[in-house]
Formats: sequence, structure tokens, C-alpha cells
Amino acid sequence: MEPMLKVTDLRVNYGHIEALRGVSIEVQKGQIVSIIGANGAGKSTLLRTISGLVKSLGGKVEFEGEALPAKPSKIVAKGVVHVPEGRKTFSGLTIRDNLLVGGYLYKGKDLEKDLEEQYSLFPILRERKDQFAGTLSGGEQQMLAVARGLMSRPKILLLDEPSMGLAPLIVNQIYDLIRQIRDRGITVLLVEQNARKALGICDYAYVLENGVINLSGTGDELLRSDAVRKAYLGG
Ligand SMILES: Nc1ncnc2c1ncn2[C@@H]1O[C@H](COP(=O)(O)OP(=O)(O)O)[C@@H](O)[C@H]1O
Ligand SMILES: [Mg+2]
Repeated sequence: MEPMLKVTDLRVNYGHIEALRGVSIEVQKGQIVSIIGANGAGKSTLLRTISGLVKSLGGKVEFEGEALPAKPSKIVAKGVVHVPEGRKTFSGLTIRDNLLVGGYLYKGKDLEKDLEEQYSLFPILRERKDQFAGTLSGGEQQMLAVARGLMSRPKILLLDEPSMGLAPLIVNQIYDLIRQIRDRGITVLLVEQNARKALGICDYAYVLENGVINLSGTGDELLRSDAVRKAYLGG
């Protein structure tokens, strides 16, 4: 089957730093695909390039068989939605207004219904909807960031380190939500330093090291791989 997202030989530099040195990945519709790798491997750069925030030097990004537009807002309109590293919620806006920012493309059309959907998936956000986002805990802010992404009606959600800095119990909650999102038919590309969690949930995974994909396989295959265990799972 033709993959939903296909990245071919992608190259990105920041000045003299070669952040991506010919990265190729495929994401099948309906799956959770993860990219694991250490800090500085190029994971965020890969997501930023797919979502049009960083320009590539070479290579291709195709979505549903076509090249994506150049402008980030047009990429969102195609259904490719990025939830950035570090949540990036608007602390001085209410939870509801943060969600409405995610729905800006739809200008009132069915927005109340979309909000209801997020509140049913994330009940804590309903309870807190009139509070400023800055008053939320780290885990709640991560939920808000994901819910804001969902307000943009993604076909594929690009999640950058959703577990970063969160307590294990909260990480489990976030991962349960990622599974529910996939079960609602949204494809997920999940980038993580937390290899154990990401490999445990994904259908397929790639290992990114210094801007190069060095290994790939199903989550189970990589959990069993000696190289992955040594480098990413503490032996
Ligand atoms: N805006 C930037 N300017 C210069 N170098 C950057 C910038 N963003 C990332 N880098 C460098 O590019 C490499 C990949 O970074 P990044 O994609 O953030 O990795 P990861 O998300 O896997 O931690 C690193 O060497 C990082 O220092
Ligand atoms: Mg990163």
C-alpha cells in the first residue's frame, strides 16, 4: 500500500551543522510510527521540516502521494498537524481560547462540536476551560497541546516528545490518549527520547542517530534488538 507520508533522502543544515543527512521514512495510514533517538539526533528537525517550519536542502516530503505545499498554514490545511516539543501553549489565554487557536482554520464551523470532542477526550480540560493555560501542570499542558493539535482536524499528528519532563504516571496517561487518538483513525508520527514507551506503543519505528536512520523495525523487533537495548534501554 502507498504510504500516507513518505520522506525521501531529506537533508537539512543549520549553517555548518548537518542536522539531517539523507533521512527516509514511511508512515502507513492508521498506524503509530515512532522515531527514537538521543538529544540532538535530529528528531525535532525532521518534524519541523515536514511541517514547513524549516527548509530542506534536498529530498522530498510527500503526503497522500503529493508534495506538500511550502507554507506551514497550507500544510496544516492538508491535515498534517505538528504538536511541538515543550508544549508551547499560550499561558495568558484560557484553555478554551488555546483550543480555539487550534481551530482557527475552520472559522466557527462546527467549532463547538470540535471543542466538545476534545473535552470528552480530555475531561480535565473541560473542568479547567476558563482558566489560564499557565495555571496547568506540565501533564495538563501537554494534554492541552495535543488537544489544540486535534482542533486542527489532523489526518496525521506529529508529536514531538510528549513525555518529556513528566512523571511516569502522567506519561502513561498521555500514552493511553495517543492510543485513543490512533483508534479514532488519526495517524501518528511520534518522536521520543523515551524509547521504551515509544517502542511499546508503535506499529513501526526508526532509530535516528546524528541525522541518519540507522535501524528500523516493528516496535517489538526494536525492543528485542541488542543494539537498541544497549543504546536506548539501559542494556
Ligand atoms: N535552530 C537551530 N540552529 C542551529 N542548530 C540547530 C538548530 N536547531 C537544532 N540545531 C542542531 O541540529 C541538530 C539536531 O537538533 P534537533 O533536531 O533539535 O534534535 P533532537 O530533536 O533529536 O534533539 C543538533 O545538533 C542541534 O544542536
Ligand atoms: Mg527535539
